[in-house]
Amino acid sequence: LYKKAPIMIANDVAGKCTDSRVFAEVQAVAPGFLNLKIKGSFLADYLTQMEKEEKFGLEVPEKQKTIIVDYGGPNVAKPLHVGHLRSAVIGESVKRIARYIGHKVIGDIHMGDWGLQMGLVITEMKERYPDLVYFDPDYTGEYPKEAPFTISELEDIYPTASGKSKQDAVFKEAALLATKELQGGRRGYQALLSHIMNVSVTDLKRNYENLNVHFELWKGESDAQPYVPEMVQMMKDKGYAYMSEGALVVDVKEDTDTKEIPPCIILKSDGASLYSTTDLATLVMRMKENNPDRVIYLADARQSMHFIQVFRCAKKTGIVPETTELKHIGFGTMNGKDGKPFKTRDGGVMRLEYLLKEIDGEMLAKIKENQKEKENLDIDPKEAEETAKTVALAAIKYGDLSNQASKDYVFDIERFTSFEGNTGPYILYTIVRIKSILSKYQAKGGTIEGLSDAICPARNAGQKNLMLSLAKFNATIENAYEESAPHKICAYIYELANAFNGFYHDTKILAEENDKLQKSYIALLVLTKEVLETCIDMLGFSAPDRM
Ligand code: ARG
Repeated sequence: LYKKAPIMIANDVAGKCTDSRVFAEVQAVAPGFLNLKIKGSFLADYLTQMEKEEKFGLEVPEKQKTIIVDYGGPNVAKPLHVGHLRSAVIGESVKRIARYIGHKVIGDIHMGDWGLQMGLVITEMKERYPDLVYFDPDYTGEYPKEAPFTISELEDIYPTASGKSKQDAVFKEAALLATKELQGGRRGYQALLSHIMNVSVTDLKRNYENLNVHFELWKGESDAQPYVPEMVQMMKDKGYAYMSEGALVVDVKEDTDTKEIPPCIILKSDGASLYSTTDLATLVMRMKENNPDRVIYLADARQSMHFIQVFRCAKKTGIVPETTELKHIGFGTMNGKDGKPFKTRDGGVMRLEYLLKEIDGEMLAKIKENQKEKENLDIDPKEAEETAKTVALAAIKYGDLSNQASKDYVFDIERFTSFEGNTGPYILYTIVRIKSILSKYQAKGGTIEGLSDAICPARNAGQKNLMLSLAKFNATIENAYEESAPHKICAYIYELANAFNGFYHDTKILAEENDKLQKSYIALLVLTKEVLETCIDMLGFSAPDRM
């Protein structure tokens, strides 16, 4: 365009930047690069503004969106196992990031509470306790308030029933019938269902609480069922749904498809609804109740075809308007060190609860080890236990979130719990270190509030590196939100923690005699701590006061 050699253009640009407010130096380098050096004063001013403004100056969205995050997705009556971890951990973070940006975000657990598993539990209950009033078809009185089983019994009933149904055709038949009768409204079964729900939900709440995962809505697949008949009628009336090989289907393939997209099945040949029916009816319900601009689903990547079909069908039939964005975040598998899906030592499915306990225990041992090394440190056993839990959760969540969601990853407890390297405990250790310096500074009479104006231009490379890293906060968060990518926040805080530790290594802070300089360092520490804490909160974990 300019008919000039690149280096000449670079020279021209450099020439125009001589009085820049932002750059101290702009240098053209052969064959046509520009080296930009930011002005120390500009960077210091920028950080000063960050510290003063709410959310470090992050811009509020022009229009607040309503976003539903559909995550967790446990199936009631079955204990949570490691396969449920990723959905909960990634979903919670995606939700928190969107909320921090300033959107209205609703998390829905979307329990699997509709289908054969309920019939299985009822059938097994009937075999164990045939005399219970729930099985008497002539009973018209009120049913007991108290459930006829505990959570541990329920956890035994389901796998037993599921095992039986695979071998025993009669049992399977009975379970299918019970499912149908339950869905058809049989009173005694409905009463049992609400017991199953109550006992199971209490247990789920406790488990998710331990993961610091919280849902705004505790809805399930069953909540969508009332919307099914009208939805199916609409699809027929508008000519979208037609019979094919006995089933009611909607075509969803498009001309630009490069692989085959089979039709979306709305009703099976026996008229029963399926996973896709439920997800479509749930969208009808969500549009009516929340009118979201965006719905984000966290589910195993192997379900991607299901979501393509459901999303296309929802748009095509007008359940969801063009303006509402539907997005599936498909996550990869959590593998053991052998590269195969994570299992217990004896090859069984690992209960989430046991996994958490194991890591809590390992963390506690590490903390005690640390304590022995620093003999003067006496930590109260209760505090040690609390701290172990906090650090263990960070280890697990960071271990998961630091990987791109769509990829499989190796759940390596040893690596995840290490205090060094790209791990949750390393990030927490950095925060704890800053907290400790700040409290020593305060103990000597220093104050850490209102120091934002104290930030001075960097004195050395380590300090400048830290300051540049801090300045990347806004861009990082916006990008993590746009791409629903918590791993970008992990990469950022790892960089920031390294930058801080580099600075800490090179700089005497508490021993600094120049008061102005010391205040400037302390202000940087405060900002680093706040940025790190804000980020880990978006990832769904927190830091203890000491480790
Ligand atoms: N309960 C399902 C499962 O265990 C996950 C649900 C995902 N969410 C959804 N709306 N389909 O696979």
